[in-house]
Amino acid sequence: MTRLDLADVQGNLLRGYGTGKRYVRHLIVTVKRARAARAFLHDATVGTGAVPAITTAEPWAERPATCLNVGISATGLQALGLASASLATFPAEFREGAVGRALKVGDVEQSEPRNWRDGLGDPDKVHAMWTIFADTEEARDALAAELEAEWRRSGAFSVTTRLDGAGLDEDRVHFGYRDSISQPRFEVNGELIGRADAQPVAPVGALLLGPYETTFPDVAWRIPEPSAIAINGCYNAFRILEQDVVGFEEFLQQSARQLLDEYPEIMHPEVDPVEFIAAKLMGRWRNGVPLSFAREHTLMQRARPGHPEGPVHYVDGMPVLGDLDDLNDFDYPDEVDNFDDFDGTMCPIGAHIRRGNPRSSRIVQRSANHTRPIVRRGVPYGPKYDPATGDDGERRGLLGSFLCADLAAQYEAVMYDWINLGLQDPRVTGTNDVIIGANHERTSSFEIPLGEGRTLTLRGFGRFTHTVGAVYLFCPSMTALRYLARQS
Ligand code: HEM
Repeated sequence: MTRLDLADVQGNLLRGYGTGKRYVRHLIVTVKRARAARAFLHDATVGTGAVPAITTAEPWAERPATCLNVGISATGLQALGLASASLATFPAEFREGAVGRALKVGDVEQSEPRNWRDGLGDPDKVHAMWTIFADTEEARDALAAELEAEWRRSGAFSVTTRLDGAGLDEDRVHFGYRDSISQPRFEVNGELIGRADAQPVAPVGALLLGPYETTFPDVAWRIPEPSAIAINGCYNAFRILEQDVVGFEEFLQQSARQLLDEYPEIMHPEVDPVEFIAAKLMGRWRNGVPLSFAREHTLMQRARPGHPEGPVHYVDGMPVLGDLDDLNDFDYPDEVDNFDDFDGTMCPIGAHIRRGNPRSSRIVQRSANHTRPIVRRGVPYGPKYDPATGDDGERRGLLGSFLCADLAAQYEAVMYDWINLGLQDPRVTGTNDVIIGANHERTSSFEIPLGEGRTLTLRGFGRFTHTVGAVYLFCPSMTALRYLARQS
């Protein structure tokens, strides 16, 4: 096993900073004076008087109040002076960037790059993204002020946009779901990172470029040259995803009414039909409990032999299971004890999490199971929606970082094969994810199999999540940043 030098890797990649660092600011910048920008990058690998240090994956001696990380776009690498011959060895999708690849990932119509906010559809305005993670708003603002003062002094960068996000209580995201539960589990220098999980451990090469195994046996990613720029770096498909919470809540209400009209006898008395619909769209109840082991306790037992006994009880119309660490320890059962969920009666095949990660369910591209893990680091922006107030006119959404070693084989493949199009199973092919898919009222549909041949089909919904900005970034190692700093 190759030993990973944690001091070389940025700190937000293999693991997140946790709910403590709930205040986030992304500063998207352009390189104004390349020489000054390179000097800043160099100083940030160590931290000097005026330049704060980038946070690495090295264990902390003392918990810092803020963390700082950076990603650089293809136009940014060029602006910093990386040789064209080196840039040409980066994969085409990274060089084309989020603007060039918009169509592929469903950024069409209202979500097209020309409609993105703050000029983010212009790759020349988007060279790098500095991200501050902080314990408090004050600490975040203070570090941002420090960075911007230094950039003004040296002329290194000018700020294209400032994006603030803050974690909501219980790791919830807008639409009301609990998030940040499922992440690929890595074994790093003998230590297993992450919560209990029925899936295979992901190789470090699923995230970092280098001499590491990837998720594809016998496949190695092409490493950009020279290796100093590439090793221990990864890609980030960063997206600003605006959520139509009002429209989504109305759709849940309307679908719950349809359910009760068509199948008045079907609901468990303690389950709220609105929560039932929300759970079916996501694959998890909004409290985070996965459908795949909680539809009914008996099914859970059959699906997962050996799962600890214990009564299911209901809170706020949703089932609650004890151990939080268990929330990711499931699979889509495939002929376990004469029971499987091939038909999606527990978790619909088209549910967001089953699309995003079909785990070991029988998909068309059978060899793709477990090959497209994506590390997700997102933070909501905008105030929490209060259904009692109704439409408050506020903008809200997710500042999402989707990290991987290969944008085309992992992130984009998930987006265009599975989230949109549904190529994993003929029964959902031609449909898109309800939560984030590029849906249109005329063509959308979502099927909720209810068992014994009964199906609830939802139609006529539009797009609930719009892209208002995106950028493909490379998150370099400390070695790579020093290499970049030596360019001229
Ligand atoms: C506003 C946008 C989005 C919202 C509200 C959202 C919400 C969620 C929630 C609540 C979960 C379940 C919690 C968990 O398993 O950790 C989840 C899981 C996931 N999402 Fe999203 N998501 C969004 C965008 C995306 C995008 C753009 C992708 C594309 C790569 C994506 C891919 C995934 C994956 C892969 C999982 C984990 C599935 C699993 O391993 O079981 N999501 N998302």
